[in-house]
Amino acid sequence: MVLESGMILRTNYNQLMENLEKLKTVKFYSGETTPLEMHKVRVVQKLNLLPIEERKVSIFGAGFNTFLLQNKDVFLDMLTDSGTNAMSDNQVASMSLADDSYAGSASYTKLENAIQEVFNQKYFLPVHQGRAAEHIIAKSFCKAGTVVPMNYHFTTTKAHIEMMGSAVEEIYTDEALKIKSDFPFKGNMDIGKLNDVIERWGAGNVAYIRFEAGTNLIGGQPFSMANLREVSAIAKANKIMLLMDTSLINENLYFIKTKEEGYQDKSIKTILHEMLSYTDFSYFSGRKVSCTRGGGICTNNHDIYMQMRDWVPLYEGFLTYGGMSVREIEAMAVGLIETLDFNVISHSPTFIKYLVDALDKKGIPVITPSGGLGCHLDAKDFLSHVPQQQYPAGALAAALYIASGIRGMERGTISSVRNENGDDVLADVELLRLAFPRRVFTLSQVKYAEDRIQWLYDNRHLVGGLEWTEEPPVLRFFVGKLKPIGDWVDKLVAKFRQDFGDSL
Ligand code: F0G
Repeated sequence: MVLESGMILRTNYNQLMENLEKLKTVKFYSGETTPLEMHKVRVVQKLNLLPIEERKVSIFGAGFNTFLLQNKDVFLDMLTDSGTNAMSDNQVASMSLADDSYAGSASYTKLENAIQEVFNQKYFLPVHQGRAAEHIIAKSFCKAGTVVPMNYHFTTTKAHIEMMGSAVEEIYTDEALKIKSDFPFKGNMDIGKLNDVIERWGAGNVAYIRFEAGTNLIGGQPFSMANLREVSAIAKANKIMLLMDTSLINENLYFIKTKEEGYQDKSIKTILHEMLSYTDFSYFSGRKVSCTRGGGICTNNHDIYMQMRDWVPLYEGFLTYGGMSVREIEAMAVGLIETLDFNVISHSPTFIKYLVDALDKKGIPVITPSGGLGCHLDAKDFLSHVPQQQYPAGALAAALYIASGIRGMERGTISSVRNENGDDVLADVELLRLAFPRRVFTLSQVKYAEDRIQWLYDNRHLVGGLEWTEEPPVLRFFVGKLKPIGDWVDKLVAKFRQDFGDSL
């Protein structure tokens, strides 16, 4: 009887939460669709906006590689959302409660409880960041002769799988690589291609199927619950494990809730639990999902847990910290619970949409529909006069920094590799990613980005290509150095002064 009334209370509570979530959007009297910050700023960091002449010196110093800029020389750091999200007051406060201990820390118990509540997963393995989870998963389940099909790869994911001798097959749909689209779920897997991979390799040789929420490298694009359900049924029928990378789950949840039929009235928690019920295990980068550091692997399957468990103390740290500080563990527990708040997960997608729609309306080439990670400019179109061999996405990243002090990330041929003949492997897409770290930028800062991108677009004919001066053999995009071909930088700076006078 007591239990029954407890269950009724719980059901009423869930219903109440689901009803409240329907009231979470703010309409403007003017009818404008303006994103609204549902938090206030209580700690600030001073920004520097250098004059353009000094920005020019900085980019030459950085070898035209935005990874090599010093943060003090950057105005808006849109390089990544990894480890650069704003923490909430409750997260910062929780860090002072940390229970320092090598084994059995009370902070870790809080994290396990949060994992249970948020992901509905019983077993957890902590690691120092997302790629460490990828390392342990690949080490446990990948070997030569096996394949991992996925909607799209992430750089570190692919490297870990291939290092174990496994192959990666990308089975994205035709919509995925289209720059302009109004399809809301460009992160879906192509079911025909999935069946084909299983048939070609044999189900026994598929190490696992990997679903990346908010597919990073194709513009932070989500997958739908319907697609996940279908993939899960195929995985089960073939006795193949299904793994989900939940590093960017927040925004994928937002898109399912707001765009997929049947989910508008469901709570974030209900949607997330349904998503994970289709998986065998999952992992995340805490640098993204929980606005902290660290990461972890979750499962409800004891066998899967046991196959990975003993690698954690070897590579990461004891099972109750896994390479994370207890302060981070406390903040992660709070940050994960906060992902169940619609206001928290809607911030980035609504601000990104604002910028993407504004640029798209002006005819500036951006990936549409807007995703959950950032605004992605199509450099092939933006700088259509710059040949791909002269790295248009890298040139655009450098030009935008010169024009605005904004630091984005090249995601094109510079981030690719050379083939065995020493020729560049030209990337499918040449993108400049402008990431939106969660709750970091205000609307006027976003408007500044819009303004400077528009100026650069109107003056795009002044921007030229790049060539290498120092090219490392591996992961060249991180520390390689380039220089401009010709004197385009001086022309761009001169035009800026002509148009903006003595403005910063
Ligand atoms: N999975 C996804 C989808 C990611 O975006 C990242 C990192 C990782 C895994 C690896 O996690 O960095 O904690 O080791 N993405 C960062 C970025 C680096 O800038 O997009 P990590």
